[in-house]
Amino acid sequence: MFKQITLAYSFDALEPHIDTLTMETHYSKHHATYTKNFNDALAKAGLEPTSVEFVLTNIDNVPESVRTAIRNNGGGYYNHNIYFDHLSPNPKLVPTGPLAAKIDETFGSLDAFKEQIKKASAGQFGSGWGWLVANKAGELKVVATSNQDNPLMKDGGVWKPILAIDVWEHAYYLKHRNMRASYLDDFFKVLDWAKVEENYKNVVNG
Ligand SMILES: [Fe+2]
Repeated sequence: MFKQITLAYSFDALEPHIDTLTMETHYSKHHATYTKNFNDALAKAGLEPTSVEFVLTNIDNVPESVRTAIRNNGGGYYNHNIYFDHLSPNPKLVPTGPLAAKIDETFGSLDAFKEQIKKASAGQFGSGWGWLVANKAGELKVVATSNQDNPLMKDGGVWKPILAIDVWEHAYYLKHRNMRASYLDDFFKVLDWAKVEENYKNVVNG
């Protein structure tokens, strides 16, 4: 049985950047539903995986009768765990150490990286996610996926997510309305780079 991550902050803690009602609905309704439906689909197929990463990496081998349900809800479950986990009311606003060095090397600068991931996220047609992904060699790239797909579902799962931006309208519409770019600016005001650095370290050392 997979469980939602516990939030380390209250629903109103990310105000004014991400509003209270959005946080409460997003976590208590949307994420809770993905989690329930993921567990229900696994149970229906008699699957008891120990790792959601394994399930998503091997999505093409999941029995066809539950593959779409697991793709959508397993992705929804895992994507939101990453997202909620790296938001914070007291974020580290600038990366340091090996991740910062690799961002500079790959994208030119932190600002250039932000522009690239904002462009990918804003340009994702319809619902989806923008990602910073890393491989075991420590290389980085920006990708976008549709619906609740996760980067692990492609390329044998060698590119692992370390930063996740939810660009479904449910993540921002109450406050930012149709202005996805404005939400993306606010996202970076509550993104805790300390957590992204930890995710990067786990991919490289994992
Ligand atoms: Fe979401």
